[in-house]
Amino acid sequence: MRTPLIAGNWKMNGRRGDAEALARAVEVKVAALSGVEICVCPPFVHLQAVQSVLSGEHVALGAQNCADAGPGARTGEIAAEMLLDYGVSHVILGHSERRAHYGETDEVIAARYQEAQNAGLIPILCVGETLAEREADQTEAIVGGQIRGVTERLEGTGLGNGVIAYEPVWAIGTGRTATADQAEHMHAFIREQLAMLEGHANASARRILYGGSMKPANAGELLAQPDVDGGLIGGASLDADDFVAICAAAQ
Ligand code: G3H
Repeated sequence: MRTPLIAGNWKMNGRRGDAEALARAVEVKVAALSGVEICVCPPFVHLQAVQSVLSGEHVALGAQNCADAGPGARTGEIAAEMLLDYGVSHVILGHSERRAHYGETDEVIAARYQEAQNAGLIPILCVGETLAEREADQTEAIVGGQIRGVTERLEGTGLGNGVIAYEPVWAIGTGRTATADQAEHMHAFIREQLAMLEGHANASARRILYGGSMKPANAGELLAQPDVDGGLIGGASLDADDFVAICAAAQ
């Protein structure tokens, strides 16, 4: 009942020509797939170029962040509504790289989430613990706190049509993946937390993606877990064949 979503986070990679070529290759290769939603999230400056090579039928377009306020005096930021002009439908929020390098707190992430919702975008809210936090047995406290820290600040629609991405920080770009059991344990935990915050019906309909060194070789096992509803793919999304193999595994 939850359609899997595979989202490629291209992070800060590639020049314009690389982005166009990658998008073109993904568009062609996923055309035969069904039963999986696919999204690519290029850097802001490549959104228009990528939009121009996507048909809009097979691959949705996502951004990697949006501002915590509407248009106005926010130098260097991009308002959620501006993304609509480029056909953007999804937006990654609260990625651990934003939390670690740019000091994004649950409070600012919640404000970004609210702006995304108000603009009609689908937020992909990232949560996850560091290795030190896992080793200190703090994983559930940290992840539960991140979920509550955003959800409790949202007005009206709550998480709305948003998606959660569980990304253990120690697995991002390291080649070290959570085991299928570790991922399923945390996804089930997140769904329990959501059930307390937004009720069982909403929680059981909400997609929870796994992110952290997901590759063609491990995607099948991770995606087979009952509470893993897709993936947020970094490194492997920069190779069209690898990305499409992961999309195929999610069907
Ligand atoms: O947003 C994607 C995640 O940070 C995962 O990145 O697949 O390179 O580990 P990765």
